[in-house]
Amino acid sequence: MQYRTDIEYMASFNPRQAPPILNYTAALAGFEPIDLSPAFRYCDLGCGPGLTLLTLAAAFPQAEFVGVDFNPNHIRMAQARAEATGLKNIKLIHSDFTELKDRNLPAFHFIAISGTLSWLADAPRDAVLDFMGNNLEEGGLAYLHYMAMPGHVIQPPLCRLANDYYHQLEGEPEEKVLLTKEFLKGFLNTQKRYFEVSPTAKDFLQNMINSSTSLFLHDYLSNVRRAYYFADMNELLEKRGLRYAGSAEPFYNHLQLAVPMESRELFRGVRERASVEAIKDYINVNGGRTDVFCKTTRSAGDERALETVLLAALPGQDQNQVINFAGAAVRLNVEPMASVLRILQTPNTLENLYHHPELSAYPRHEIRKALTYGVATRRLIPIVKGSIPHTQMSDYNRDVLNQVVHTTPDLLPSVTLSSPTMGNGHAISWIDAVMLWSIVNYGQEAPQKSLEIMQRRNLGIKIQSKESDKELTPEETMKIAIQNSIRQFNVLLPFMGITAQL
Ligand SMILES: C[S@@+](CC[C@H](N)C(=O)[O-])C[C@H]1O[C@@H](n2cnc3c(N)ncnc32)[C@H](O)[C@@H]1O
Repeated sequence: MQYRTDIEYMASFNPRQAPPILNYTAALAGFEPIDLSPAFRYCDLGCGPGLTLLTLAAAFPQAEFVGVDFNPNHIRMAQARAEATGLKNIKLIHSDFTELKDRNLPAFHFIAISGTLSWLADAPRDAVLDFMGNNLEEGGLAYLHYMAMPGHVIQPPLCRLANDYYHQLEGEPEEKVLLTKEFLKGFLNTQKRYFEVSPTAKDFLQNMINSSTSLFLHDYLSNVRRAYYFADMNELLEKRGLRYAGSAEPFYNHLQLAVPMESRELFRGVRERASVEAIKDYINVNGGRTDVFCKTTRSAGDERALETVLLAALPGQDQNQVINFAGAAVRLNVEPMASVLRILQTPNTLENLYHHPELSAYPRHEIRKALTYGVATRRLIPIVKGSIPHTQMSDYNRDVLNQVVHTTPDLLPSVTLSSPTMGNGHAISWIDAVMLWSIVNYGQEAPQKSLEIMQRRNLGIKIQSKESDKELTPEETMKIAIQNSIRQFNVLLPFMGITAQL
């Protein structure tokens, strides 16, 4: 049996596979970032119902996006959404990965595979890696998310337990999942010895029990579910002409942040980047990796690659903070970090920061460090263009918001809007989406409209009132909630090019 196609995978958005994030990761390692203004080509392998693909396609109307999946329902769902939202720059291909080589696909600047690689048997896995080797442009970037050893080590026995129990049951998959979860709950509540030997397995088992039916079937009960050591994945990709650039999780690229002080000794005498990476996984013991590889024959390490990347300070963030990582604390209010964050309230590049009068007292390596640590703390983000303050909401984002009116928060806990300035998605909760939809479509009547939608679903909203003795009516409460939302939306959404000021 191969990867299941009888039950749809629930859609999720992955911001790490967005082109500006991949570009930043490559540039940090000293590989040339890809120019995002012309019509670049992006391919998402195992695109599922296409949420990530659609959101990115809406952010880059000039680029071409291709999604591949062998589940016909996923392809139909993605196609229907692309048509409903008027996106013209998407092509969906119904294909098994093993048949990709016969599809006559062009070379891409980006190829991503997320939530899929670890669930593939050898043949489709090799087909995916071959496709990256053969169909990436020179200098093109690959994103690979996969489960990683040794952090993954606690998972297989529990998945096996669940699988064996599930397969001796009879009935419909949904029913069998419920019964398997009951069995796992019993195991969790009674098996002291197992969790003494393997204490962290408890959290993993709890996650299994809490997962949706779709995730449970696709992720934990898949008959292939394998983790890779980084060194092995690196070898598979090097053979195909790709070189490791870094992690799409920015802090993980800085040894000083990712590795505690007492562990740094372990890296003494370790020269190769791949060996550093392999040891780091033993220190962080993460269950997964989000790798970026570059198709190139050139070595990494060109310091100038990062200088042209456009960055901006995310508005509305508290800059008076200390952000703790396993290896070090990053203080945002010390120089030159504080100045870099302030200057980048207007988007700019590292090259220009080097010449900025307010930073003239600092050597280049300190400015570079402040900028890259700013990204690691998520106070700075790689963006595509400066903010467009008078943007009207795009058809795509309107359609995303329209969805919430027809659904409930348990079916759609959040929606992802597409940001052309970030070249990425921005997720907001169901209730925020309801209020934004009401504000955009109904202006003054927004409180009434939001209330109607909530009441139709028997939902209420509560607000902490300063005059706590005064009981607010639902109408008054919603009016305050909408005013608060407008204030919050106005901080981020115009910056992201999602709406004008509300
Ligand atoms: C877990 S989903 C991930 C979806 C999406 N990338 C995400 O991160 O949300 C894996 C997807 O890969 C597809 N898939 C699995 N094996 C495949 C194969 N051999 N060829 C094509 N698609 C495959 C599945 O149909 C599914 O949509």
